[in-house]
Amino acid sequence: MSTIVLATQNPGKVSELRSMLNGSGIEIIGLDDLAQSFPEPAENGSTFIENATIKAKAYAKLTGMLCLADDSGLEIDALGGKPGVISSHFAFDGDAEGEAAGLTRQQRDDLNIDRVLKDLDPVEPRDRTARFVCVMVLSDPDGNILASCEGRFEGRIGVPFDHPHCTPADSVPRGSNGFGYDPIFLVAEDYIYTSAEIEPEHKNKISHRGHAVRSMIELIKELQLD
Ligand code: IMP
Repeated sequence: MSTIVLATQNPGKVSELRSMLNGSGIEIIGLDDLAQSFPEPAENGSTFIENATIKAKAYAKLTGMLCLADDSGLEIDALGGKPGVISSHFAFDGDAEGEAAGLTRQQRDDLNIDRVLKDLDPVEPRDRTARFVCVMVLSDPDGNILASCEGRFEGRIGVPFDHPHCTPADSVPRGSNGFGYDPIFLVAEDYIYTSAEIEPEHKNKISHRGHAVRSMIELIKELQLD
């Protein structure tokens, strides 16, 4: 049986992938399942694929195991693809160390949302097209990339309810599921619900991460790793 270490400390992500690979002969473990702790590599790439590759190669080398890493974020067309790789710290221009370090994830998410809505202030509702992107990369301990894939989740950023051009249909934030930018992301193709209003099981079926995980599972099965 082959073992793949998932480059995450999130036990939810580990058990999700583990259950999806159940019976395939591939075992999934997380970094926290290993006795040692490892230094986090600097995610200084300018694209999702660069950052996922940095993480996959670094942890594969450190653990001596096959490693699967992901990177994800939000791309807004009217902002030239921003926030992109700095999605988690957009309000701080990507700086994770300064002011952002003392805040909770929720506080950071709220400030990131405020920043996106402010930057989009002059942009018409229909021109606020955006997508979540998730890239996954599998590396062996020598740094060879065995598989990579991408998932996308299309939508549009809504309009703050106190904006002069806001209509009830596009007013945001709405919903309490999910995290990050979900409360302001109106899901394509009808743009009625935000991704914070849909059930988590439904989001998994249509989300960037759901698409990427399912593609990666097919690629891993084709590799015939055992
Ligand atoms: P990560 O790579 O999964 O940690 O995601 C990086 C950042 O992208 C998060 O901190 C969020 O700001 C944003 N993001 C990624 N996926 C989602 C999502 O499904 N909903 C909302 N925000 C997301």
